[in-house]
This record gives sequence, structure tokens and C-alpha cells, in this order.
Amino acid sequence: MRVEFPDGFLWGGALAANQVEGAWQEGGKGISTSDMLPDGIFGPVTQRKPGDWSIKDVAIDFYHRYPQDIALFAEMGFTCLRVSIAWARIFPQGDELQPNEAGLAWYDALFDELLRFQIQPMVTLSHYEMPWGLVENYGGWGNRKLIELFERYARTVFTRYHHKVKLWLTFNEINMSLHAPLTGVGLPAGCTEAEIYQAIHHQLVASGLAVKACHEIIPDAKIGNMLLGGLAYPLTCKPVDVFATLQENRSWLFFGDVQCRGAWPGYMQRYLRDNGITLHMTAEDQAALRHTVDFVSFSYYMTGCVTADSALAAKQRGNILNMVPNPHLESSEWGWQIDPIGLRTLLNTLWDRYQKPLFIVENGLGAQDKPGDDGRIDDGYRISYLNDHLAQVRQAIADGVEVMGYTCWGPIDLISASKAEVSKRYGFIYVDLQPDGSGSLQRSRKQSFYWYQQVIASNGRSVTP
Ligand code: BG6
Repeated sequence: MRVEFPDGFLWGGALAANQVEGAWQEGGKGISTSDMLPDGIFGPVTQRKPGDWSIKDVAIDFYHRYPQDIALFAEMGFTCLRVSIAWARIFPQGDELQPNEAGLAWYDALFDELLRFQIQPMVTLSHYEMPWGLVENYGGWGNRKLIELFERYARTVFTRYHHKVKLWLTFNEINMSLHAPLTGVGLPAGCTEAEIYQAIHHQLVASGLAVKACHEIIPDAKIGNMLLGGLAYPLTCKPVDVFATLQENRSWLFFGDVQCRGAWPGYMQRYLRDNGITLHMTAEDQAALRHTVDFVSFSYYMTGCVTADSALAAKQRGNILNMVPNPHLESSEWGWQIDPIGLRTLLNTLWDRYQKPLFIVENGLGAQDKPGDDGRIDDGYRISYLNDHLAQVRQAIADGVEVMGYTCWGPIDLISASKAEVSKRYGFIYVDLQPDGSGSLQRSRKQSFYWYQQVIASNGRSVTP
């Protein structure tokens, strides 16, 4: 007998404020780190001057068009939408004592609209952005003052939305900070590894305090962490490659170990010791870390391979995970290797490791969709990609893994994070927006829109093995 997706499984999509909202200077919003990175999270910092233009400034104009977009999500049958709150809409500089009412009111309206359609909001507190004032005036997360400022922000939104939002996430892909320090922890390029680890520690403490605050203020809510779920395979079965792979996976998973188990693991203490890094950690910090998450959420796009041969590794650097490409896998147009079985492996790995419910909060295929002469967008490649991944989620459920839901990335086309491209489209809904900012911003349904509608209506039964 085939095991199916459980009743109550949440289906939907995931967005991030800075990739969809636009309105970068409306409603009293402050400037964010994302505004200062107009070329994406790996790009250079650009001081914004009056008259400067960035595709993110308007993005897909979700700030003004959300009612229409939510109606389309409802038409697909969404039961959940993952969004993020732009911290700089609530505390424009990051350190104000009182929040910005216009920012709070906008998210009230957004959540009300979702609830009107019985779509449950899942809210990320910080998705790849923070108020720029916290970088400029405090030096980002390197300064432990940010713990207090983040807790103030988290308590403010928990209190305001306590009867509307019951699913929360702390920091998006918290394990990316070593790779994109400004976006992750507000540290400039050129900072030292020791500085990044100290900043990461402060952020992990803040995450623990947010969990504590959420449990106090909204006892019936659940709060999770959010990891980039890249999985490393050994390039060969040489024992040195297998051990190097274990270490690579730990370098991504240690964040989850802290957030799920409540302390820095021994292997990380050894790493810090071996590299001459001493963390400043107080007894209060240790107490804060013990507030562990209720569930584990993660993004999943690709896997990669690891070799202990550093010359070979350097020659073959592949996708954004900087791992060696897997010779057995195909890649997307952006070189991201497509590996549906890797999702089943990852789900089982995380379940075995944490024994906490899992939520796949990002997955999807970035592609250059082109409307045909009749305006239709036949994105069969996206349907195959998503079907194959969902088939593996069903397998993992049959393996005994507890999976709460699936929100695919970018259910409506949006601005990509890595390079702020609009040509890299993930959506079921096409947005008429071109790289130079031209386009009507009109929305239209792709072929995958109807496919996903069917998946949700059948609670996943229509997904082919
Ligand atoms: C995740 C991020 O890393 O991947 C998203 O949480 C991002 O913000 C997504 O958009 C896909 O990456 P990209 O670069 O294709 O937008």
C-alpha cells in the first residue's frame, strides 16, 4: 500500500520581503542591507543615492498588489504562505524604542488577507536583510547589542500578531553567514573568520531568545529554525573523502545542532580551538541557547560532492555550495545540480539527527520562462522537477519522517537572491517584468499553476512516483 501525504499537510509557497515587496522607501521603511546590495547577496555594497535604481526597489510590487496575488494563491488551493517581515519596516534604523506603526499596519493587512482565504501565514523574522543602521552604527551582529535589539523586534511582532500568526521562523538560512557575511550577520567583506563566528554566536543566542519569547507570548504557536539544506556526498569511497564529507556536512549542520540541542557541539569547539578562535560566551548566552526550536525548516535545491584532494576541489568548484559537481546529475540553467533523491536522504538525515518535525520551506527550479506567441507559458520542466521532488518527500514520509508541509520557493516570479536577477524565474505565476525594469507587472498563470492546483486538491495523490 502506498503511503500518502498526511491529512493536514500544509501546501503553499514561500516569499521573502526584499525579493517581492518593492516600496523600498514607503510606509516609513528604513534602508536595509538588501537595499545596499542591489546586485544580490554576493555583490558589492552600493551606497544608495537619490536617483539610483535597483530592480529590487519595485521588485514585483507585492506591497501594492498582494490582494491580487493572494487571490491567485488561493485559487491554487494554498493552505500556507511563507513570508518574511522586513525588520526595517518595523524598526527603520533598528534601534528605535518604538516601532513604526505604518509598517506594523501593512503586515496586519497582509495577514488578514491571507486568513480571509484560510491561508496560514508562516513568518520568517529575518530573511536575508536587516536595518542598515545596525551595520553602520553598531557593526552588525559582531556587536552583542544586536541580541537585545532583535529580541525587541521579535517581541514586538509576536505581541502584535499573536492571534494571526502561529508559525514562525527565526533567521533564513542561518548557515549561509560564512559564505555571505554581510547578508547573514551584517559584517563587511574582509572580516575575519573569528569575527564571523562571534557574530554567528550572537545570532544563535538571539534565535534562542526569540524561541523563548514566542513560547511566552503565543503559547499555541510553533517556532522553527531555517537551514540551507545542502547535502554533501563523498566524491569517492576513499575514507579520507568520507571523513571530509562528514566535516563539510557538519559545517552546515552545526547551526541546527545548536538550535535543536541547545549548545555548541564538541566538533565545533575543536574546530574553533584548532583555528585559534575563542568565542566570548556568557552564562546567560548558554541559558538562551537552551531554548530549542519546535521544528526544523530548510531549503533544498541541490547537493554536491566533497573530496579531500584540495587541488582537485579547487579545480572543480561547482555550484553556490562550492562543492565538486556530481558526475551523475544534471544541472539547471544556473548550474544547480538536480537531485530529487537527495531530498529524501536529507529528510531522513535531519529526522535521524533531530527527531523534530521537518518543514520544507523552499524548493524549486529557477528557469528562463518564455511566453509563447499565444502568451502561454509551458513550463513542463518545472512540473517534472517539482513532481520528482515531491515523490521523494512522499517516500520520506513512508520512511517514517514527520513532515509538516511544503512551501515551494517563489510561487510567483520574484527577484533572485544570489544575483538580483529577474530572468531566473521560479513561479507558477508569471510576472511581466524584464531585467531593465520594463514590463507591465501583469500576472499570468503558467502551465505549472494548474498542475500544483491539482497536487494540492488531491493532497499530493496526483504526484506520480
Ligand atoms: C535561498 C534563499 O537561498 O534560495 C532565497 O532563502 C533565494 O532567498 C533562493 O531566493 C533561491 O536562490 P536564487 O539565488 O535563485 O534566488
